[in-house]
Amino acid sequence: MLDGRRVLLVVSGGIAAYKSAILVRRLRRSGARVDVVMTASAEKMVGVTTFQALSGRPVLTDLWTEPLAHVELGRAADLAIVAPATANIMAKMANGIADDMATSTLLAVACPVMVCPAMNLRMWDHPATRHNVEALVARGVHVVGPEDGELAEGEEGPGRMSEPDSIFLAAARVLRQGSPLAGRKVVVTAGPTLAPVDPVRFLGNRSSGRMGLAMASAAWLRGADVVLIAGPMALEPPHGPRVVRVETSIEMAEALDRELEGASVLVMAAAVSDFLVPSPSEKKIKRGDQDVLEVRFEAGPDLLVSTREQREKGGVFTLGFALETEDPIGNARKKLEDKGLDLVAVNEAGRPDRGVDALTNQVTLLDAQGVVEELPLMSKVDVAERLLEYLEKRVS
Ligand SMILES: Cc1cc2nc3c(=O)[nH]c(=O)nc-3n(C[C@H](O)[C@H](O)[C@H](O)COP(=O)(O)O)c2cc1C
Repeated sequence: MLDGRRVLLVVSGGIAAYKSAILVRRLRRSGARVDVVMTASAEKMVGVTTFQALSGRPVLTDLWTEPLAHVELGRAADLAIVAPATANIMAKMANGIADDMATSTLLAVACPVMVCPAMNLRMWDHPATRHNVEALVARGVHVVGPEDGELAEGEEGPGRMSEPDSIFLAAARVLRQGSPLAGRKVVVTAGPTLAPVDPVRFLGNRSSGRMGLAMASAAWLRGADVVLIAGPMALEPPHGPRVVRVETSIEMAEALDRELEGASVLVMAAAVSDFLVPSPSEKKIKRGDQDVLEVRFEAGPDLLVSTREQREKGGVFTLGFALETEDPIGNARKKLEDKGLDLVAVNEAGRPDRGVDALTNQVTLLDAQGVVEELPLMSKVDVAERLLEYLEKRVS
C-alpha cells in the first residue's frame, strides 16, 4: 500500500514509545521506508537498537553526529509522524523550537505532519497543551488520538496513544491523496440486521460484516468522509469511519434516511433481514407445555426501494451487493434494473470460501450494460480495493 513512500517517524519521550515499534513494523510491511529519529527522553523509554532493527536503518538521536542529516531527512520524507507526541514536543513544534535532532528535523520537513499525542489526562487538558494542539491543527497538522481509556499511571480518561493499526491507517490516508472520492460522503451499510421475536430471541443471519467494513475502510483510506451504518457484529469497526449502530432493518432504514443527505456514494453491503415480526412479544416466550411455537413474520422495509427517491434526487451512485443461490447473474441484473442500482457485486451463497461470514469472496460486477468484470477469489480487503477502484472511475 505504501510502496516506496518515505516516512519519518519521530519518537518522543512518552511511555507509549513501545507501541511505535509496532508501528514501524506495520509501515515497513506495507512497503514504506521508515527513518526513525528519537528524542533523548524517548531513548530512556525504548532502546535505539529496537528501532534500528525494526526499521533496518540507522536511528538518529543527535543533531551533532551527522551534520545536515536533519535537513536531508526532512526534505526526503513523504510524511512525518510524531508518535508518541509528548506535551513537550508539541509545545516545541507549535512554537518552532528546534533544539535537538527531532525538533530540528520536524522544522525542516516539507511534507504533511501527523502527531499522535500520548500523555496523562491533565497534561492533555492543560490550557497550554490545548492551545498548542489548536495551533498545530490550524497549521494543517493531522492529529490522531489520543484515545480514552486506562492510562499508564492507572487513571482513566483521554491520553492513550492510538493503536499502531489506527495510526497506520491514518498515515495511509494522508499518503494516498488525490482520489476522486476524497472529501465526498460515502455511506456504507454492513453486517446483519436482526428481527426480534421477544426480548431475548431474534431471527438473524450469518453476515459477519467483514465485506462492508472492508468497503468502509477502503473508502476512508481514499480520503472519503465515510459513514458506516453497522448492524450487530462481533468485528470491531475500522479506524476512521463514523459509525452508526443499528439493530433492525427499520433502524437501518431510518439511519439511511438521515445519512444519505449530501452523500455521493452508497454501498449496500449489509445483509438486511427481509422479514420481521410486526409486534414482538414484550415478555420472554416460555416453553410451557407447547410443542410448537408459531411466529408470524412479515416483509420489512426494502432499503433499496425506501432509499430510491432520495438516491435518485441526490444523484447518489449506488453499489449493491447481491447474494444469490440460483442464477446469480440473471437475478442480479433484475435487482439492478428493478431497484435503480448503478453497480451490483454478486456473490454466491452457500460456499464456505465466499459470501456471508467468509474471509474471502468472489464477486462478479454488473452495471446497466452487463457484466463489467468477474473478479477472482480473493480476500474481502482485496475485493474492496478493486471495487473502490471502480467507484473512483465512475464517480470521477
Ligand atoms: C516515566 C515517564 C513517563 C512519561 N510519559 C509521558 C507521556 O506519556 N507523555 C508526555 O507528554 N510526557 C511524558 N513524560 C514526560 C516527558 O518525558 C518529558 O516532558 C520530556 O521532557 C519529554 O521530552 P521529549 O518531548 O523531548 O521527548 C514522562 C516522563 C517519565 C519520566
